[in-house]
Amino acid sequence: MKFARFLLKNAALANAPKQIERFSRFSPSPLSMKQFIDFGSANGCEKISFAFLRQELPVRLANIMRELYILPDQLLGTPSVQLVQSWYIQSLMELIEFVEKDPEEQRVLSDFTEALVTIRNRHNNVVPTMAQGVIEYKEAFGVDPVTNQNVQYFLDRFYMSRISIRMLINQHTLLFDGGTNPAHPKHIGSIDPNCDVVEVVHDAFDTAKMLCEQYYLASPELRIKQANGNDPSQPIHIVYVPSHLYHMLFELFKNAMRATVESHETSPRLPPIKVNVVLGNEDVTIKISDNGGGVPLRKIERLFSYMYSTAPRPLMDNSRNAPLAGFGYGLPISRLYARYFQGDLMLHSMEGFGTDAVIYLKALSSESVERLPVFNKSAWKHYKFSTEADDWCIPSSEPKNLAR
Ligand SMILES: Nc1ncnc2c1ncn2[C@@H]1O[C@H](COP(=O)(O)OP(=O)(O)OP(=O)(O)O)[C@@H](O)[C@H]1O
Ligand SMILES: [Mg+2]
Repeated sequence: MKFARFLLKNAALANAPKQIERFSRFSPSPLSMKQFIDFGSANGCEKISFAFLRQELPVRLANIMRELYILPDQLLGTPSVQLVQSWYIQSLMELIEFVEKDPEEQRVLSDFTEALVTIRNRHNNVVPTMAQGVIEYKEAFGVDPVTNQNVQYFLDRFYMSRISIRMLINQHTLLFDGGTNPAHPKHIGSIDPNCDVVEVVHDAFDTAKMLCEQYYLASPELRIKQANGNDPSQPIHIVYVPSHLYHMLFELFKNAMRATVESHETSPRLPPIKVNVVLGNEDVTIKISDNGGGVPLRKIERLFSYMYSTAPRPLMDNSRNAPLAGFGYGLPISRLYARYFQGDLMLHSMEGFGTDAVIYLKALSSESVERLPVFNKSAWKHYKFSTEADDWCIPSSEPKNLAR
């Protein structure tokens, strides 16, 4: 019996390349915040959601798997990346089993929700496992693969795809498995249609402050200002996923606090972290300003590269003490969350003084639409031809024509 199951599973796995090819021919369908909300209100229906996801999830998985296969062999071949790849194949095959099933059967719908929960759990550790793969590569070949532009390009797209897949899974399981969230009855799945931005700023600041005090026994204060361009007397509300906003703010506060404390070791007091929240017609802008000494312009882009950190690498020992810094994933992943709904995250720094980190979000839910990678000719070309020569002159130490 066990052997029969083994054979069946392996037959399914052997079929995987064909399925990846088949589903990657479709482009992912980005959803707007409005569509997410509509699914959760009166016109939402589990059968419709099921029918959409059983196609859309394999499409998103297959699209990004095509890119995974293009990674340099030495990186793809590391045990950790192989493990991640096996999770993707297994999840894809489990989802495809639902393609032929009848949505009218209650049993099918409950099996599907169960499968989604299994898949979500299976992929919980994708980020640290991929990071481990990058470390394995570095140890084996002595070079950091992320300095390769293709790997940075891939990881941005891979993690963006993962954010989107988890968003779809979370919405379905939250909406159709257990009904409303008793702690947040007005939320629609993970979306708060009335997300109070300043409240999330306070929450993220307080948690970062607690961590900062554990490490440095001191922490800067928060000064916050808000300006609602539509109605100055009203707080700033947007339709958003509070956990995404919290993630970005928490990462930016940890960075700002670390820079502030470490650049003021001998000062009697710490300068505050200033936050400005502004609602305009198009954008909600959140600016976090610190006096933490800043970063030279030459390094700013590098801060967004995966694994770049100036903090000592924390131990991966499951200890309950979360580190304040050290994985180098804070900024790049936060920027993906901002971009996921068409926003962005930028750093403007003044070396010798401090840094402004700015989060841009769309003010209107009609413009908050998922930003998704698609595997097409342009993506393929990016991997194949991006190592061509630079089209800007590289300054040499001695100008050729003048050196005699
Ligand atoms: N506000 C800031 N002021 C000065 N340097 C900063 C600031 N924010 C980030 N940095 C620099 O950018 C690096 C990368 O930041 P990032 O948040 O991505 O990783 P990290 O903080 O080192 O680790 P973690 O993944 O745990 O956040 C930091 O190590 C730090 O050197
Ligand atoms: Mg950080």
